[in-house]
Amino acid sequence: MIRSRITGIGMYVPNNVVTNNDLTKYMDTSDEWIQERTGIKERRYADRTGETTTTMAVEAAKIAIERAGITPQDIDFIIFATLSPDYYFPGCGVLVQRAMKMKEIGALDIRNQCSGFVYALSVGDQFIRTGMYKNILVIGSEKHSFGLDFSTRGRNVAVIFGDGAGAVVLQPTEKEGQGILSTHLHSDGESAEILAMYNPGTHANHWGNYASFDEAEIGQMFMSHAMIDTAQNFPFMDGPSVFKKAVVKFPEVIMEALEANGLQPADINMLIPHQANLRIAQFVQQKLGLSDDQVYNNIQQYGNTTAASVPIALCEAWEKGKIREGDLVCLAAFGSGFTWASALLRW
Ligand code: ACO
Repeated sequence: MIRSRITGIGMYVPNNVVTNNDLTKYMDTSDEWIQERTGIKERRYADRTGETTTTMAVEAAKIAIERAGITPQDIDFIIFATLSPDYYFPGCGVLVQRAMKMKEIGALDIRNQCSGFVYALSVGDQFIRTGMYKNILVIGSEKHSFGLDFSTRGRNVAVIFGDGAGAVVLQPTEKEGQGILSTHLHSDGESAEILAMYNPGTHANHWGNYASFDEAEIGQMFMSHAMIDTAQNFPFMDGPSVFKKAVVKFPEVIMEALEANGLQPADINMLIPHQANLRIAQFVQQKLGLSDDQVYNNIQQYGNTTAASVPIALCEAWEKGKIREGDLVCLAAFGSGFTWASALLRW
């Protein structure tokens, strides 16, 4: 039986460390509030001129590809998860293909926010299992620092997010029991608007009656001065509602993965939860009865890096020797959409 296996993993975070105290220069917040509510102490922000979602992804990908013992020219498919692409279109996948001088391979962009990497891994897994591709590069990368409202108005969102990238190489394995055992994907669009960035977009929710506008006015509605003046170009989050749903769906999707494989929480060697909020991760840990050494968290250092958070945490845990061959690793994520997902891997 062919399964896919992570054979190389890499991460990149910018050098620029931004502490909670640094943020008090721009908004009414405090180190105490941020740490108490989220666990975050600091995050990284990309270099203002040189670093983009794609350049960070390329740095992470170089490491993952080298660790897999192959070259960029061996990669036969790219899957790129992000909510902060360099361009509205085209997606970042083709920019990685260009930057790394890869062959004219397929490049797919995934828009599933916090669960984007687990969704991307699941897509890659299917292509490997069917035998269509043999060396897939899966990336999660975000540059949040360019799209946040740093005034007090936006503080509930701005303090949470950080920049960074993680990447893995997926290859086939026929070794019994090794590799990605299963993936589980879910969505519930009922709450799409409670954690969202509405603009630019093609919706008409905020601008009343389209029928009264002429074509020139409609053309401007995609990105207008009014939008910027009323801060509608920033992400919106109803934090408490997201929190309440996350603490239900995280344990649910982890248990779904375990049950699909006849396993229990005690069998997990390492749970890598999406780093949304330390309090959410601690709640999940408690609910599943996991010990501290069964869960890896690094939100304290990097904040929430959305699609990059799972591969960054996975990479760090692996680099620290906390994940060894044969270990059972569970990845789980929940976020905007809502979408949520899990993956169970035998390393
Ligand atoms: N500093 C100081 N005060 C603040 C800040 C801040 N940065 N942000 C909000 N506050 C204030 C609020 O204005 C409010 O004040 P009030 O009581 O006078 O009205 C008070 O703090 C409490 O605000 P809440 O929003 O109720 O605070 P909560 O305890 O819920 O924490 C948080 C907010 C951290 C956002 C939390 O709700 C959370 O983590 N939610 C889940 C986030 C998440 O998982 N997102 C999914 C991933 S993101 C993605 O998919 C893109």
